[in-house]
Amino acid sequence: MSHSAIYFLVAAIISFPLILWKVHSWVILHHQRQMLKKEHGCKEPSSYHNKDPIFGLDAVWRNYVGWKTNSLLPELTSRYQKYGNTYSLRMGGSRSLSTIEPENLKSILSTNFTSYSFGSKRNNALEPFLGASIFTLSGSDWQHSRAMIRPNLVKDQFVDAEMSTFEKHFGRLLSAIPRDGSEIDLQPLFFAFTLNTSIELLTGQDVHLDHEVSQMFDDAERLIGDQFLLSFIPFRRSRRQYLKACKLCHAWVDRYVLEAIKEHHSQTWKTFTEEDKASGEGKYSLLSELVKETYDVPRIRGELIGMLTAGRETTASALSSLWFTFAKRPDIVQRLRAEVAELGGEKPTFAQLKRMRYLQNTIQEALRLYPPLPANMRTAVEDTILPTGGGPDGISPIFVQKGQLIFYNIFAMHRRQDIYGVDAEIFRPERWEDTSLRPGWGYLPFNGGPRICLGQQFALTEIAYTTVRLLQEFQVMDSRDGSPWQEKWHINCAVKSGCRVSLS
Ligand code: HEM
Ligand SMILES: *[C@@H]1O[C@H](CO)[C@@H](O)[C@H](O)[C@H]1NC(C)=O
Ligand SMILES: *[C@@H]1O[C@H](CO)[C@@H](O)[C@H](O)[C@H]1NC(C)=O
Repeated sequence: MSHSAIYFLVAAIISFPLILWKVHSWVILHHQRQMLKKEHGCKEPSSYHNKDPIFGLDAVWRNYVGWKTNSLLPELTSRYQKYGNTYSLRMGGSRSLSTIEPENLKSILSTNFTSYSFGSKRNNALEPFLGASIFTLSGSDWQHSRAMIRPNLVKDQFVDAEMSTFEKHFGRLLSAIPRDGSEIDLQPLFFAFTLNTSIELLTGQDVHLDHEVSQMFDDAERLIGDQFLLSFIPFRRSRRQYLKACKLCHAWVDRYVLEAIKEHHSQTWKTFTEEDKASGEGKYSLLSELVKETYDVPRIRGELIGMLTAGRETTASALSSLWFTFAKRPDIVQRLRAEVAELGGEKPTFAQLKRMRYLQNTIQEALRLYPPLPANMRTAVEDTILPTGGGPDGISPIFVQKGQLIFYNIFAMHRRQDIYGVDAEIFRPERWEDTSLRPGWGYLPFNGGPRICLGQQFALTEIAYTTVRLLQEFQVMDSRDGSPWQEKWHINCAVKSGCRVSLS
């Protein structure tokens, strides 16, 4: 016998028990899964007709084209109409699930929360930008982040009697809008406005931002989409561009982090006097609170960038969709003006905003039809069960295998006629006056369960305040753009054609 044959024989003898053991555990696992399926009466959901049944590259390609041509959301919505509210599809090699069933979302986000995490795909896209922070962490690290951030976003931290922070930044927004009725695109102004407000909320300082800085953040955020959709292409150019953009943003944020650490370090040697507090020294902000917890620069930076990203694009997008709608719907604006007139020209307080029913319904309706975070996903971290969507009638439970991706689509769910009625596609704030409309987990612009948005109060207040103040300042508005609402992707979704109007 030759040497190589002996080696082969020995290798086979050694590895045989290993292979046997592998097969054995696979059989056991398979058996356990069959038992679980049987016990819960699980059935297969309907399945998307993949042209490429092995790698599912057709689905990846169609999503990519939809995304590049600003038509991904209608495309995804039509898939649910074709395949049902829950279906499976092959995308990039593995079989994923896709659902817009409120009961399933409740299970994923709340009752079976611990069975799911963000998964490596999402983190691979977000981590270079956000590092280890609330948007990428899970388990006890995430809980710790959430506990640090939460106190900064309670009402009393951003609302005072005069709504002074909002009013200050609103004044700057106002001075950027021409009063002579010439055309203006409000969308970029809303983005700058929410960036300015968020930075003050996070750092406690009125930071001067030049155009270059906001451009830097725009670049990084815009490139994140590519990281999601093209993650299967190694060494791609957009990855290098993305990493470069992240580095620039990090360097800018680090300046403030280091400053805050230095200040905190020197202050730990002295105790605050009442004058210090009155003069605003040691002002409460997310940054000053984080520095008390840790001097870990990348960690603090990650939380700050995460909050900035979460807080600004979403809110700016909601404001843009809202005003995009106003420009085309004088009937809504007229009803709103009547409500705003009750303030008698005074600036609104927090309590007054909350009491303005039509205003609140209008904002709620904008977040229904144009949710800033329209699509999302989770990964199962263990074998688990979805309560519904399986079988020919789509009501049996579905078995979910460890590692499986589940996509969910708020945009499509918010358009379900069986939840919102036959006019589900129409912008109609009055629908919320009907107390029999109780969508529950069928209405999720801010997510739900333990990871529900922490900035909801802040965002709703900022949107309501800005809207009322703009209506008070301008009596006439005309649309300068006849196109329908179309998506434009950054991390979130904004309006493709912007919000072009004339105001006087
Ligand atoms: C209209 C505006 C907003 C919308 C539609 C929105 C929506 C959402 C959604 C859907 C999530 C869940 C993401 C996920 O788990 O996959 C989320 C999480 C979060 N949002 Fe918002 N958000 C808005 C504004 C804000 C603002 C202004 C802030 C902060 C100033 C903020 C802070 C956060 C934070 C910290 C989380 C993470 C919570 C966690 O994972 O524990 N959001 N938001
Ligand atoms: C945002 O702040 C910068 C100064 O930091 C200012 O130049 C700009 O006009 C502000 N933009 C808006 C829309 O408030
Ligand atoms: C998930 O929820 C279902 C009920 O919908 C329950 O029967 C099941 O045991 C849960 N699975 C896990 C892994 O917690």
